[in-house]
Amino acid sequence: MTTQELCQKAVEMIKMAYVPYSHFRVGAAVECDDGTVYTGCNIENAAYTPTNCAERTAIFKAVSEGHLRFRRIAVAAQTEDFTAPCGVCRQVMMEFSPDMEVLMVNVRGDVKTVPLRELLPCGFDKSSLKDVK
Ligand code: THU
Repeated sequence: MTTQELCQKAVEMIKMAYVPYSHFRVGAAVECDDGTVYTGCNIENAAYTPTNCAERTAIFKAVSEGHLRFRRIAVAAQTEDFTAPCGVCRQVMMEFSPDMEVLMVNVRGDVKTVPLRELLPCGFDKSSLKDVK
């Protein structure tokens, strides 16, 4: 899938966002290592903390279908600025694919690509757990 197609899938998911509290719509599309793509949107909750970001919705859909390695994730929001994934989503990405890329899409359709390692330097991952003395 081309970068433009992946970003378009994320943009299309904006309309599925369930955002009665923030009204901040986000769509995401994650590309697995075999090229399969899963999409997601943010899903909010009256109790606030159960809210799931678009990125995690897409990744959890993929993982629940047996995909554990990702090349890229596109994240689209209706903002002039590029919307970067929250820390929790960065950590979830790190769990599966520390070397994946994050593509941020703004309301104009401009795309900014940043490696996950740049968004989450010195991240905690499964190798960190092996170092107990
Ligand atoms: N949100 C996402 O879905 N992804 C991001 O990258 C940033 C934040 C959602 C969570 C919440 O529903 C709303 O945006 C406002 O924080």
